Amino acid sequence: MEKIIVLDFGGQYNQLIARRVRECNVYCEVKPYTMPMEELKAMKPSGIIFTGGPNSVYDENSPHYDPAILDLGIPILGICYGSQLIAWMAGGKVDTAPVSEYGHTEITVKQDSALFRGVMEKTVVWMSHTDYIAIVPKGYRVTATTENCPVAAMECAEKKIYATQFHPEVMHTVMGMQMLRAFAIDICGCKGDWKMGSFAEESIKQLREKIGGGKVLCALSGGVDSSVAAVLLSKAVGKQLTCVFVDHGLLRKNEGDEVEKVFGPEGPYELNFIRVNAAERYYEKLKGVEEPEQKRKIIGEEFIRIFEEEARKIGSVDYLVQGTIYPDVIESGLGDSAVIKSHHNVGGLPDVVDFKEIIEPLRMLFKDEVRKVGLELGIPEYLVFRQPFPGPGLGIRIIGEVTAEKVRIVQEADAIFREEIGKEAEKFAEEMRERRRMAPESKVVRALTQIYKDKMTSRFVPPWMPDQYFAALTNMRSVGVMGDFRTYDYAVALRAVQTSDFMTAECSALPHELLFRITSRIVNEVKGVNRVMWDMTFKPPGTIELE
Ligand code: XMP
Repeated sequence: MEKIIVLDFGGQYNQLIARRVRECNVYCEVKPYTMPMEELKAMKPSGIIFTGGPNSVYDENSPHYDPAILDLGIPILGICYGSQLIAWMAGGKVDTAPVSEYGHTEITVKQDSALFRGVMEKTVVWMSHTDYIAIVPKGYRVTATTENCPVAAMECAEKKIYATQFHPEVMHTVMGMQMLRAFAIDICGCKGDWKMGSFAEESIKQLREKIGGGKVLCALSGGVDSSVAAVLLSKAVGKQLTCVFVDHGLLRKNEGDEVEKVFGPEGPYELNFIRVNAAERYYEKLKGVEEPEQKRKIIGEEFIRIFEEEARKIGSVDYLVQGTIYPDVIESGLGDSAVIKSHHNVGGLPDVVDFKEIIEPLRMLFKDEVRKVGLELGIPEYLVFRQPFPGPGLGIRIIGEVTAEKVRIVQEADAIFREEIGKEAEKFAEEMRERRRMAPESKVVRALTQIYKDKMTSRFVPPWMPDQYFAALTNMRSVGVMGDFRTYDYAVALRAVQTSDFMTAECSALPHELLFRITSRIVNEVKGVNRVMWDMTFKPPGTIELE
């Protein structure tokens, strides 16, 4: 299988680079820069990408690599620190600028460079650096410049070695995808026929080899990630897999039964399914606990304890599967990046775990990639496109102490919110279908179809459709009036965000009519609520969940 390897020198965008290459339909994986060159060669990559990194090439402790890599005849693209590393290894000169260059920058490119084929002469890129290439090595030529940066890109076309000081992988680099595609397809000569289906196939094969006759326990939450992980495992080892679904009493309304319907004995998959109803146990543990990280820790640990108990009932279990995906990994702090929230399925594992090893088959994927895998595996669309739900569930959507009564309030408010969004989205889709029926040839209708038709599902999706939306219970009570009576009830917070990778998010522009309708239904129908508040904060500075 043709592949490109991203050698990670500590940059913050390493997985993003890999993901962008996969978007070009070329398989791509990240490997640490400590991987010996012989091993790297044995992987027979069609190309290699050096990532950025926080270091300076002249520091002794900086990540370096065997300069012989430049003579392997494998195309290389160096990005940011990676570009400086190439200059340094090949005998050029890297300097430290008095001030850092950070943000959007206009560059002028040499359009005859294979990397910039089809790129406009002047284009905007994303820069983030202090060091820069001052003198290019012998045999190299400068292929892009900016006002402050004499070598924004360089190349040795003969050896197929390319370097950019800027980051083609981030969205702010307008023609970045074009450049990465030029590298993967034109320069590395990849065919670009890889699909997420191949990832699924390959993973199933690898999982089968790794697990052999071993027993596997999967932590199934019913969310997209763990469902895709479970189906992957079910296809790999069938009944060797036991899925434990812990209903911690912190799920959305009716969710426990819905999960059971799909993965239980009535469902289409071959696996052993165990549902543990543990609501009381969780509420007891969470009594009096207000601090979000402590709640996460308790919920995460309780999960593991329950798995251990179930595993003991099954006998020996060799592997524990988790649906960790890439954004979970970085936000829980990888290497030097800061810990923002300890997502329980990564950070909060207790020291004593009764399993040989944890398997995380989706660890390198972003959410939308997980969905593609799900579709390739034939998982029903309603499951694949289910909005993400955090492992600690409503536990982190109830600010402060969790009680059964508060859970009921959030569940009911949330169900109304979801029902109304669903109805409004369906109304929009129906209107679009109607327009198409009425005027199939109209240019306007065709343009609208282009904009609003979801590529993955072929459904019409309104422009305001949030990627994640939910009710949370603020711990605040306020005075209201209902009939002739004073009320002193809870305020529910509603949040709806649009995001492509959950690392940043924008508040969805829901139609006002819809906001009014939802607000009115919640205060009228949910006992204990007399006020609804809309959280319109972006991420950053807010996070998606309130805790
Ligand atoms: P934040 O709140 O960090 O959320 O902006 C980003 C995405 O992660 C989900 N999330 C979690 N998922 N355990 C999880 O499994 C957690 O502790 C957790 N906290 C947040 C959140 O729902 C959003 O999709």
